[in-house]
Amino acid sequence: MDDWRFDVPTSGSKHLPPDPGYIKGLASQGYRFEEAVADLIDNSIDAGAKDVVVHFRRSGDLLTSLVIVDNGRGMTEAELDTAMTVGKRREYGDKALGMFGMGLKAASFSHADKVTVISRAKLAGTVGRRWRTEHAQESFQCDIVDVEFAKQFLDLYDQYVVWSGTAVRWDGVRDFPARGDAAQTDIYLTKTMRSLADHLGLHLHRFLADGRVRITIAVSGVDDATPAMTWLVQAVNPFGYPMSGLPGYPRKFTTTFEGVGPLELTAHVWTPRSNAEQFRLPGGILARQGLYAYRNDRLVQAGGWNGMRQAEQHLSLARVEFDLPPDSEAAFGLTVKKAELQPVPGFVDAVERASDADGRSFLDYLKDAEGAYRQARTTTRERKAVLPPGRSFPRELRTAIEEELPFVVGEEPIEVVWEPLGRDVFFAIDREERVVLLNKQFRPALLGGRRGSLTDAPMLKTLLYLLMNEAFAGERNGPRVKDNLDLWQSLLLTAAKIELAKYESGNTA
Ligand SMILES: Nc1ncnc2c1ncn2[C@@H]1O[C@H](COP(=O)(O)OP(=O)(O)O)[C@@H](O)[C@H]1O
Ligand SMILES: [Mg+2]
Repeated sequence: MDDWRFDVPTSGSKHLPPDPGYIKGLASQGYRFEEAVADLIDNSIDAGAKDVVVHFRRSGDLLTSLVIVDNGRGMTEAELDTAMTVGKRREYGDKALGMFGMGLKAASFSHADKVTVISRAKLAGTVGRRWRTEHAQESFQCDIVDVEFAKQFLDLYDQYVVWSGTAVRWDGVRDFPARGDAAQTDIYLTKTMRSLADHLGLHLHRFLADGRVRITIAVSGVDDATPAMTWLVQAVNPFGYPMSGLPGYPRKFTTTFEGVGPLELTAHVWTPRSNAEQFRLPGGILARQGLYAYRNDRLVQAGGWNGMRQAEQHLSLARVEFDLPPDSEAAFGLTVKKAELQPVPGFVDAVERASDADGRSFLDYLKDAEGAYRQARTTTRERKAVLPPGRSFPRELRTAIEEELPFVVGEEPIEVVWEPLGRDVFFAIDREERVVLLNKQFRPALLGGRRGSLTDAPMLKTLLYLLMNEAFAGERNGPRVKDNLDLWQSLLLTAAKIELAKYESGNTA
């Protein structure tokens, strides 16, 4: 042990550049598609863009590329080279959303085979560079885009880009459906545009709400520049409730934590039982309770308790808003993805110690939010208890019904099943067995040709369940219920026959 040296002796140094295989690591950051797009839009916002267009380009039924165009300040050739360099950082202003010099590359390499960046700065020419993800992994050779092409490409967007701007184009997007089938592509687009609009609307809501930036999602064919379909992204404020769930809220709690801070937490209690889209955010009510963190106005965590609590139903009205104090990124464990925090261990403690101007603690707030939830549950229990739905209803549907309606305890559920019933009825009910029988003759038509299963036709089943619960409830059916059953029978039969006729003529046509 006597030979211990505090400094390790060396005998020279040699240059060991990173292996390009390192790019592979970059490409596996686990960015979701919408997170990757959001990262590119952060760059547009940093460049002062007023407009950003997220443009899906399709050729016939095949999606070919994604282009994200902005009218920010653009880049000169030298700046573009820097921008394409992995990990090269620039000087960042106080309000900048960028920080690691990685976002553009990490987001693009994880989702596309090729990324082309074309940019035009004021009083400078249009320039372009392209990385082929594969090449970037073998050598650090970046392609120089033909200048004439670059200019023409950006000119396609002259509706937005006048003096300066940037287009990031992804080709070989791994998220896109691989085969060109019109129906698949339509389904993919509808789903993706929806989740993109949701994600951007939420994470950039402060920028969208005050008009600092406008984001348009568009789809069009590769042959025409004018977007065939456009969609303006709306701000989704996770704190945009019509009325506080508890008087006295929101309240501001303050705490300090390991040289960061003061940290100010604004604690909200949502309006109970809200159906507002700002409350029912994608990901579900459970995941969206908890802490919402902003860095320079950009949401970097949308809910979750960072180990302070488990998500639970009773806390679903609790949402807490805070801004990261300057230079606290490391303490909060902000990653390139900017999707969630991994704060240092002292954080939980600091939040639990937070108190407001009246000396109330953050833990009191959690109790209040829980109380508001329980209170709302008991006051809406006035809904009459019903018989539960059975296994012929999809599981999510049964859960949803259970969340809304109290069940009569210890009763057999109601099932809806298909049976041959002859020509002139649509349904029959078997009170003893608690079954609604649907005439099998209409099944293919009502399923629109899809394959049947035990839990098929959830829409139809739900409507019948809501209508008929009463018919199963009492000892026997009174005249009012009987009259209703006759009425439903006659109207539903007519409707089913229309469906059948349309289905049959569609099949022969
Ligand atoms: N749309 C854009 N407009 C102007 N400059 C951009 C744009 N996208 C990227 N850049 C430049 O490229 C650099 C690298 O971007 P990125 O890899 O996302 O890292 P970061 O944003 O952390 O700096 C940015 O700092 C910026 O200078
Ligand atoms: Mg960036």
